[in-house]
Formats: sequence, C-alpha cells, structure tokens
Amino acid sequence: MNPLNLPENLKNEQDFLAREAISESAPFIKAVTELADKREILASEDIYASNGMKLVSNGARLSGGFYDRLVAHKLLRPIEQSLSLADALDSVRLAALIHDQAGRVPSLSPVLGQPDLREQLFALFGDLNIPAALALKLSVMQEDRPKLFQHGLIAAMISTVLGIRAHLPREELQALALASVFHDVGELCIDPAILATEHHMTSEERRHLYVHPITGFLILRDFPDLPKGTANAVLQHHERLDGSGYPYRLPGEQITVISRYLAVSEVAASLLEKQGADKRINMKLRLNGKKYDVRAIALIGQLFSDAQPPSAQMPDEVQVMTRLAQVGIVFEGWIVLRKTLSSSNAEPLSFLVERVDGMRRMVIEIGFDPCRLGDALAMAGNDNPETGMELTVLLDELEWQFKALSREIERKQPEWHARLPAALKAGFDGWLEQLHQFVRE
Ligand SMILES: [Fe+2]
Ligand SMILES: [Fe+2]
Repeated sequence: MNPLNLPENLKNEQDFLAREAISESAPFIKAVTELADKREILASEDIYASNGMKLVSNGARLSGGFYDRLVAHKLLRPIEQSLSLADALDSVRLAALIHDQAGRVPSLSPVLGQPDLREQLFALFGDLNIPAALALKLSVMQEDRPKLFQHGLIAAMISTVLGIRAHLPREELQALALASVFHDVGELCIDPAILATEHHMTSEERRHLYVHPITGFLILRDFPDLPKGTANAVLQHHERLDGSGYPYRLPGEQITVISRYLAVSEVAASLLEKQGADKRINMKLRLNGKKYDVRAIALIGQLFSDAQPPSAQMPDEVQVMTRLAQVGIVFEGWIVLRKTLSSSNAEPLSFLVERVDGMRRMVIEIGFDPCRLGDALAMAGNDNPETGMELTVLLDELEWQFKALSREIERKQPEWHARLPAALKAGFDGWLEQLHQFVRE
C-alpha cells in the first residue's frame, strides 16, 4: 500500500485512529456484553489488558456486568479473538439470510429467478469459511446494528452476482463475498449515536468515521486464512478510481479488481436501501463514470436494466426546480470566482478548482448547462419524464458532492483561509456563502 496523494502525517494519524478504535473499542465491547446477556458467550482464553493484568479467566461466561472492567483498559488482543459464541452465524445460515434479504429487494428477484445463477451464488456463500471470531463479530452486528448487517448482505448479493457474471476466479469470488459482508465491520468500533441520521457530525467525529475502512482492514488482517485480497478490499471500498475516495485517496491503478466490484455494489446497495429506486442506480453510476470501474458499471446496468422502480417517488417538482436554480447560482458564482484566478494566486484553491471544475464537466458531459439546470427541468416538463428523473438524480449527486466539498473546506480552515491572497478572499467568501446556502437547505 503506497498512498501517493496523502501527506505522511495524515496517513499516520488515520492509521493511529484506526488502531485506537480497535484497542479501545467501547462501542463493540458494549454490544458484545449486551449480547452476552441474551446468548451464551464464553471466554475461550484468559483476557488480558495490554499492561498484563488479567481481566477475565478462560471459561468465564460473559455478561453485561463485565463491561466496566473491560472498557477501563486497553486490551492486549481484539476481544472477539478471546470469546466464543456457541451459535454464531455460520456460512450456511449466512447464505439463508442473504437469500431472505434478496427476496425483500424486488429488483434482485430477476437474479433469484435464474436457477443457474442462484445455485452458484448460494453454493458460494454456503462454502465460505468464516473464522469463529469473525462469526461472532457478525452476530453482534446482526443484533446491535441490523441495518448495517443488512447493508452488508445486500452489497454481498450484488457484488457476487457481478463477480460471477465477470467470471472472476473462485478465490476472488470468495474474497469479494466475504469482503462485502464485512466491508463496514470497522463501524462497530464507532459509537452508534454519532452515526444516527439525525445527529450532526462534528469534524472530529467525521475523522473517526473516515477511518472505518482501515479499522475493518486491521480486524480482518488478523485472519491469514481468509481468501487473498479480502482485507484489502475492505480497506479500499471507499476509494475511487479518480483518486477522490478515502481513506488514502488511492489512484485507480492501485485499486484492486475486487475492491472495484465491491465499491460499485456498495453504492448500489445504499441506493436500493435509501430509495428503492433501481433506475437511479444506473444514472447515479453513469454520472460518476470516472470514479467506478467501467466493466462493473456495465454489469450493474444489466442487473438493474429490466427492473422497474418499485417505490420510486418523484420528489416535489417545485422543490427540485428551486434546488436546481440554487445550484445554478453556485456554478455561476464559481465561474466569476474562477476568472479572478491566475497561475500566481490559484495554488491554495487548487483542490477547489479540481473538484468544482470536475462537477461542471460531469454536468456538461451528460448534456446540461450547469448554470441553467432549472431551465432544463422546465423545458422537459411533463413530456419528458426521463429527463426529469435524470435531473433529480443529478441534483442528488450535486448536493452530495457539494456537501462533501463544504466539509472539506471546513476541515482545512482556518490555516488554509489565511493563505489565500487578499485579492481573492472577498470573492471566495462570497462564493462560499452561496455554497453554504445551497448545502444548508
Ligand atoms: Fe457500506
Ligand atoms: Fe463503508
């Protein structure tokens, strides 16, 4: 792993945060001790603190009462490696759960309807070798974070279908299936309260969230018998081919095939969960063609091409129109600001130039004028629902990207702001205000 675009100190900080998340994993210890009140979890070896103090004896039955003692210390080994849960999830039950889950996603039913594919898929899941400590982790996730658990199953279902259709070798398919199921396992080390949708994350909390791929990688890396590439795909599941992903902003050539299939499937799974609108998946991925693997996008396209959006709700048209007009103002403001940049003063703004110009190009490439998106929707009217839907998806994407950009600006302040040449500051602040107005509403 050689993250080219990341300053060494930031990489070190992220790796440090991920290690801390594992060794002081209060949220996971809470979840596992709570599960121990409901199901039998035994210590399979003595559990030690990193200072050598014995905290739990081999054979002891865990319970909620152990929580305080366990979180008061840094543990010598990740706790899941010292516990055994008698009826933890195994691969056969996992396959059955994936089958159930897929049955609840209407757009996946064409897949389940193809006997050959279905057979291959469930044979693959049934044959996976899941180490006991990871099975425990999964059982805790199923109990404590059911949505996160389901998300892993849906991503796994999609990614393995893509992998089978792409004729990946068996070991890669197994790695893809396992990495998909476990891709967000690092989130078990994060306090669920900060992940709740109604919670407004601070930048400090966001830094912890952004390391979850590293945390997941470190958890899986302890199991050398997993198929080659499994842990690495977890590490890379938020990396993007154009270098815009996280945690390391890896360039495309360093992102493995398994990671590429996982990345696309994970996004598709999130969209299905959030919107249940399958047609949007293809559009969303097409809008981001530079971020994802072309072959994986094409395979996703096939998977969802015949699917009807089962519960696709077209949002309120007036609201979409207003938002499109607002984003047009942000782009217009950007063009004005861009004209004041020269080779001598643009350096502190270079990341902005890269991002916003990239977003403008994305809009232009699909045939719209970034400053006139509201007009495009008005012209499409009722006669052209496809264009209406495309603009709605585009708006979603722009909202998401501008929010991410606004957070990035926030993270870099104030040192970065101080480096802006005086002549640019007023113009930049004016534009930032427009951006804030757009992302706040
Ligand atoms: Fe995910
Ligand atoms: Fe993730």
